[in-house]
Amino acid sequence: MAVDLLLGLQWGDEGKGKIVDVLTSNYNIIARFQGGPNAGHTLEFDGIKHVLRTIPSGIFHKDSMNVIGNGVVIDPVVFAKELEGLDQFDIDYKKTLIISRKAHVILPTHRLLDAASEASKGKAKIGSTLKGIGPTYMDKTGRNGIRVGDLELSDWKEKYRALADKHEAMIKFYNVDVQYDLEEMEVEFFEAVKVLKSLQFIDSEEYLYQAQKSGKTILAEGAQGSLLDIDFGTYPFVTSSNTTAAGACTGLGVAPNQIGDVYGIFKAYTTRVGSGPFPTELFDEVGAKMAKIGNEFGAVTGRGRRCGWLDLIALKYACQVNGVTKLMMMKGDVLSGFKALKVCTAYNYKGETITHLPYNIEPENLKPIYTDFKGWKEDLTKMTEASQFPKELNDYIDFLEKELEIPIYVVSVGPDRKQTIFR
Ligand code: GDP
Ligand code: IMO
Ligand code: MG
Repeated sequence: MAVDLLLGLQWGDEGKGKIVDVLTSNYNIIARFQGGPNAGHTLEFDGIKHVLRTIPSGIFHKDSMNVIGNGVVIDPVVFAKELEGLDQFDIDYKKTLIISRKAHVILPTHRLLDAASEASKGKAKIGSTLKGIGPTYMDKTGRNGIRVGDLELSDWKEKYRALADKHEAMIKFYNVDVQYDLEEMEVEFFEAVKVLKSLQFIDSEEYLYQAQKSGKTILAEGAQGSLLDIDFGTYPFVTSSNTTAAGACTGLGVAPNQIGDVYGIFKAYTTRVGSGPFPTELFDEVGAKMAKIGNEFGAVTGRGRRCGWLDLIALKYACQVNGVTKLMMMKGDVLSGFKALKVCTAYNYKGETITHLPYNIEPENLKPIYTDFKGWKEDLTKMTEASQFPKELNDYIDFLEKELEIPIYVVSVGPDRKQTIFR
């Protein structure tokens, strides 16, 4: 069986967690392929809201296996807390959650390095979630990292000490004010490592290969969004992994010719949290209204998300680099009651009209050119099928499908599992 992918097409927080949860009943295995606790994937059902960080969003389904792939970076401390949050539910995670030996471990000093690096950047800071993601991936590519599989070796603590000492020297080099008590952090860390080690570690590429061979269905879950991709995102205001489809191949060991559907998720408007260019950002009461109705606050940091109109040019670019086969439009309900809607359909780039995403997208170089749409006033949140959609919403959807040349397979009309309409 082919492996299907699900990934975000914007700057993250598109609603990946919700949709993975909805789709899990169709899959035997859910596998996270990159990112780490910088992610916050929200699931809502039975009146309860869950936010997952490193654990795949299939965990609430008893019959599905959940794999944390080699491309993921794991902070044992965050992970142990995440498991603790699951304890009140009847989830046999020791059986249904398995972890790649090749996934890298986030150390306490990685978090400190993240803070030092951001502090040293001043105004140019990335707006990182400060979870140690960048420094951990740096150690991975620098070939210094500690992997989950290392935790099974007797000498891993020596390796840890050497790396932590090196990190402390690096923190001093930044010459910024980062207060910390490493001994205290280490007590928490080593306790959490014990919790991590109580789970099953696996050779996940082999596990997934055998699963595929035996006809199991697999859904790969992405974190962040395509515009935060280390190569194709708005560098340097990005995360440190490949969030795009190729990241699923390297982050799970799945061959490119084994990829089936690529589900691309986007919000009916756009949000971004952290720094970096955002051509369609709104600074007026319309943007504030989107943020309020959409409850646009980060699931991890609680920071307010910046809001703006849908950017079709950026969306096209994301569909292109990912090879999206099916689209999912989220949070259409948030736009109910907006008299007029706008979609960015071209850019004015240094005085010229262009329809692709160029290298420089800073406001001094690039301004959005909009196409106007009539808004809808109907409340979508109680609708259960597409035939109930108002004409204006159908016009909006039809336009996007025509421009992107990809069907919009799902329209989400609220945060709950049930508020999901398949077309
Ligand atoms: P993820 O990181 O892509 O999983 O997305 P987040 O969980 O960070 O952010 C999405 C937010 O929107 C969460 O609070 C979800 O509960 C919520 N959400 C998801 N889909 C919808 C929708 O269709 N309508 C509304 N109103 N909220 C939604
Ligand atoms: P999910 O999976 C939204 C953003 C941060 C910052 C930049 C780098 O929930 O969609 P990092 O901590 O990776 O060094 O931060 O990327 N960012 C996210 N924004 N959703 C996420 O994940 C994000 N993960 C990182 O805000 O701008
Ligand atoms: Mg999120």
